[in-house]
Amino acid sequence: MKQIVETWVYEAGENIRKRLTETLQVETKAHANDLVTNVDRETEEFFVGKIKEYYPDDKVLGEEGISDEVTDLTGRVWIIDPIDGTMNFVHQKQFFAISLAVYQDGEALWGFVYDVMHDELFFAEHGKGAYLNGERLSPLKEVPLSEAIISFNTDYLYERPGLELIVKKARGIRAYGACSLEMAYVAKGRLDAFVSDSISAWDYCAGKLIVEEVGGTVISQIHNQVEYLKKEQLIVATPSLLSDLQNACQIPSK
Ligand code: IPD
Ligand code: CA
Ligand code: CA
Repeated sequence: MKQIVETWVYEAGENIRKRLTETLQVETKAHANDLVTNVDRETEEFFVGKIKEYYPDDKVLGEEGISDEVTDLTGRVWIIDPIDGTMNFVHQKQFFAISLAVYQDGEALWGFVYDVMHDELFFAEHGKGAYLNGERLSPLKEVPLSEAIISFNTDYLYERPGLELIVKKARGIRAYGACSLEMAYVAKGRLDAFVSDSISAWDYCAGKLIVEEVGGTVISQIHNQVEYLKKEQLIVATPSLLSDLQNACQIPSK
């Protein structure tokens, strides 16, 4: 099954690269900066079509809502963001990913994050490690904050003065705008931590498994544990950076 899903991911990626040579139809969703294109929808349709053909009893939770209305994670559930980083896709034509996770009764089985333009496929299987283009990723190295590169994908920096201190103390700060890739980058050691804005299961489920398989920690800032069917704000980090980031993300009481 893993092999077949991988061929779908590569096929979808090839189609996305082809579509980027044509004019995109761009629309907005919840607000003016929440973009969606014909390619997002077409890619989700492609995956839903394949899943329903091969695994008709499975449920699909996709960002563009083309398939099922998923209200719980019982059974086998596919969690798909056809293009994570649509703003990058539209404006930069790079730094976006296909994010696809397969869950069984609420537990992750597989996660795929495919950086389409750089042809980098991050993959993890529960209990069997994480891989980049087939090569196993090493366990995460602990680094002190003074040597850490941290990605902030959030506009709440100004509400959390603790994060200002992190900006001062860390070696470097980044903001890539594609949550799934930022999590995969922590897994690869290109980043040491990632602090997210308000995100949904399709943004992070695949990345979460990939980073956990190399010893990374993923925690919710707003729930006791990660709540897949609610909006989340996550901290993704090597264990030693976690408490610094948790403290820094506190909202001061008024
Ligand atoms: C977005 C990206 C972005 C994050 C947003 C997400 P989309 O996904 O992951 O990095 O900051 O919250 O919605 O809309 O491009 O699939
Ligand atoms: Ca997304
Ligand atoms: Ca998306």
